[in-house]
Amino acid sequence: MSESVQTFFPSREVARRANIKNMCEYQDLRLEAEENYEGFWDRLARENIDWFEPYNKVLDEANAPFYKWFTGGKLNVAHQCLDRHLKDRKNKAAIIFEGEPGDKRVLTYLELHYEVNKTANLLKNKFKIQKGDRVVIYMPMIPEAAITMLACARIGAIHSVVFGGFSSEALRDRVIDAKAKMVITADGAYRRGKPYLLKPMVDEALKEGCECVESVLIVERNGQDIDYVPGRDYVYNELVENESPVCEAEPMESEDPLFLLYTSGSTGKPKGVQHSQAGYILWAQMTMKWVFDMKESDTFWCTADVGWITGHTYILYGPLAVGGTTVMYEGVPVYPDAGRLWRMVEEYKVDQFYTAPTLIRLLHKVGADEPAKYDLSSLRILGTVGEPINPDAWMWYYDTIGGSRCPIVDTWWQTETGGHMISPLPGATPIKPGSATFPLPGICAEVIDEEGNKKAPGEKGLLCVTKPWPSMIRTIWGDPDRFESSYFSAAKVDGKPVYFSGDGAVYDEEGYIWITGRVDDVINVSGHRMGTAEIEAAIGNCEKVAEVAVVGKPDALKGESVFAYVVLKGEDTLIKEMDVVQEINKVITKEIGPIAKADAIKFVPGLPKTRSGKIMRRILRSLAKGEEITQDVSTLEDPTIVDKIQASMKE
Ligand code: WT7
Repeated sequence: MSESVQTFFPSREVARRANIKNMCEYQDLRLEAEENYEGFWDRLARENIDWFEPYNKVLDEANAPFYKWFTGGKLNVAHQCLDRHLKDRKNKAAIIFEGEPGDKRVLTYLELHYEVNKTANLLKNKFKIQKGDRVVIYMPMIPEAAITMLACARIGAIHSVVFGGFSSEALRDRVIDAKAKMVITADGAYRRGKPYLLKPMVDEALKEGCECVESVLIVERNGQDIDYVPGRDYVYNELVENESPVCEAEPMESEDPLFLLYTSGSTGKPKGVQHSQAGYILWAQMTMKWVFDMKESDTFWCTADVGWITGHTYILYGPLAVGGTTVMYEGVPVYPDAGRLWRMVEEYKVDQFYTAPTLIRLLHKVGADEPAKYDLSSLRILGTVGEPINPDAWMWYYDTIGGSRCPIVDTWWQTETGGHMISPLPGATPIKPGSATFPLPGICAEVIDEEGNKKAPGEKGLLCVTKPWPSMIRTIWGDPDRFESSYFSAAKVDGKPVYFSGDGAVYDEEGYIWITGRVDDVINVSGHRMGTAEIEAAIGNCEKVAEVAVVGKPDALKGESVFAYVVLKGEDTLIKEMDVVQEINKVITKEIGPIAKADAIKFVPGLPKTRSGKIMRRILRSLAKGEEITQDVSTLEDPTIVDKIQASMKE
């Protein structure tokens, strides 16, 4: 945050036709929520969800922080996303898919409805998947990822999508933790012009401890040769053809789990974030209307992978819940060149484009001249998510991609929040490059201290949400204690624990919120969230490694990079360098995936620890940045260690 930031006002063209046109309309919504919180959510839920049976309570706080919303109500999320649109939009494009090789597929609402129903019948009839069963989906970015997710929702199975870039071991952990009955995958997909394989990763994952998995369903995407385990493995494409396109949508309770999505925390193993049916879909839908200003004729494109929450909420559930058209792209954004995405924006006349700062920086760096080759005039709103956006990237996005006419919605949220929490509204909020601006109506996000006092402008504090909201995480799958201790133990307001995000933030003089980044041991590499503890555990598996500490180092392209301090076993330091470096990255790739590979590995004689043995990461973060160490090091177990580390880093 700097004094000199410029403010950009919504253009007349955008504001005039926006769903929320100005600050007055925005204030009306905010005040409505402030004056009658439950009444506000009650109105939205009644107006926006097609209930099978009405709820009898808006918010149940009896068992806080295990809040319940819209209890007693029944609905079905696949019905909400498909069936209710068949009356007015059956022939409207629901999904526009483009494969990396250039193959295209457009699914209308009616076609998608058929495919989802056939798949739902297949899961139910052949594989005996029932309400509440967990289904792991390990898929490339192809329409069948969306179809199988919606098929689960239709029959009440709980999907757990695992990002296709995760390793077989990471996949195995998630299968076991969720006790999944089935895994849905593909033979492979296309990346960088070449076919790559997914199915062998599943085979590897299921080798140990996955007795819960009864069947594996394989979507044929690139026809590569893969192994089939008889009695366990089935080809989707053949089987699904025999199923009926009629499948009743299972009436679900508002609070039944809709999906699990694993994410990294500051300790040990990933957490299975559990989301609900009604609260989740309501907020996905509202934020599509408010933040992305979705209109009937709009084509919306979110470039995330369905394996992340952004893909769940803003490729699939949000756009379809509002009856919109969503674009899905299989491959890498710079294939065959850095103009690929802009070519697609032109071709599909994309209205809203939503991506991550890391991709904006990459496309700026490797393809600054590309946007000029395409007609980007269809764009109306640009969005960003995942990490704070730096002013340079912001300005390029705003001027070059948006033609200085499209507001940028910098949306702050998390896997746990289900949907946007802090974001501008494109027709109403004056924006400042790098600020997510204000909480959305109904969302009580505040920057406070541990006792719940609101921070003054310029003072860093904890970014908390002080009232429950409908799309919030319900629990950590199988670990309610960890849910409470991870999210409800850092701050209290009026003596009551409130949700803490793990992020720090600060207000400016005008009350704009600026996210300063994680305050826990979670790092953000190219918009991928990783626990330093997870990476440390992987590196610790290398035979030659005695001790390891991982920190995030600011990186111009990726936001943060993985920086590892490694203490080798024994005196023999000659074995270090290249072979250990390779081994370390091999083990990270095996246990987590290539996204977690270390960008820098420094061999050091020891780690800075307090006398009680706690590693002083703050010192390590400063050293990684090359900063002067200003902290008092005299309380360290070995006060000379900082100098020694510095000396070894210069070698
Ligand atoms: C963390 C959540 C939910 C979207 C994808 C990431 C960081 C997210 C912003 C933003 C600054 C942001 C936070 C947050 N983050 N959006 N607009 N500005 N930081 O989801 O993997 O659950 O990560 O991403 O640090 O806690 P996630």
